[in-house]
Amino acid sequence: MRTPLMAGNWKMYKSAGETTQFFEEFKPLVEKSRHCEIAICPPFVNIAAAVEAARGTRIGIGGQNVFWAKEGAYTGEVSAPMLKSLGCEWVIIGHSERRQYFAETNETVLKRTLAALEAGLKPIVCVGETLEEREGGATESVLAEQFAGGIGPLDPTQFARIVIAYEPVWAIGTGRTATPEIASEAHGFIRSQVGTKFGADAAGAVRILYGGSVKPDNVKNLMAQAGIDGALVGGASLEPNSFASIVNF
Ligand code: 13P
Repeated sequence: MRTPLMAGNWKMYKSAGETTQFFEEFKPLVEKSRHCEIAICPPFVNIAAAVEAARGTRIGIGGQNVFWAKEGAYTGEVSAPMLKSLGCEWVIIGHSERRQYFAETNETVLKRTLAALEAGLKPIVCVGETLEEREGGATESVLAEQFAGGIGPLDPTQFARIVIAYEPVWAIGTGRTATPEIASEAHGFIRSQVGTKFGADAAGAVRILYGGSVKPDNVKNLMAQAGIDGALVGGASLEPNSFASIVNF
């Protein structure tokens, strides 16, 4: 059985004070939630506040990106050992916004993932097609390419420690959620890629999250799909009641 994971990606939202405030309200709402793992990924500057606020709870904290070198003259970057030493458990890698605005490629996704694994972080590696790619019938080839370049080169032990997030770009922040059927089909395709590369056991064990306009009112239908093992939530993770409803789907 795969334990669901509900992860919040806060993107570039919230001050340090708002971070602490969120946890005060959110913690009691998920205190009894034992059916899934919970992660929250604030901006780098608020990770320390989040770790402090989440201490003693089952809520894991993560980064939204990570650089592949351990240290060095890389102005503005943050390394995996730095995230780990702050108390991070998770890190999001290859989010479509990184691919779109910050020149992320499948090759750099792989480098970041290897660095995160080496530091003992759990990578949430994102894949997903744009609207143009979907409408052009290229969804599977894009997912296959992202998998082959960013994930496929991992060894089986490394692969066993990652989570994959399927985030169709056209569903992110648009209010246009993939239907459970569309999401399920893509998850099935990604799982088949895992099976081909890493074998049936790995395909059965890997968690694949869905991301893109997940809200309290659609999470249940998404989670009812056999291949969907949790959600990577943007906007709806910013408000304690709304993210708690998602966690407690
Ligand atoms: P929204 O939930 O705001 O659509 O964002 C999804 C996302 O990008 C999570 O990583």
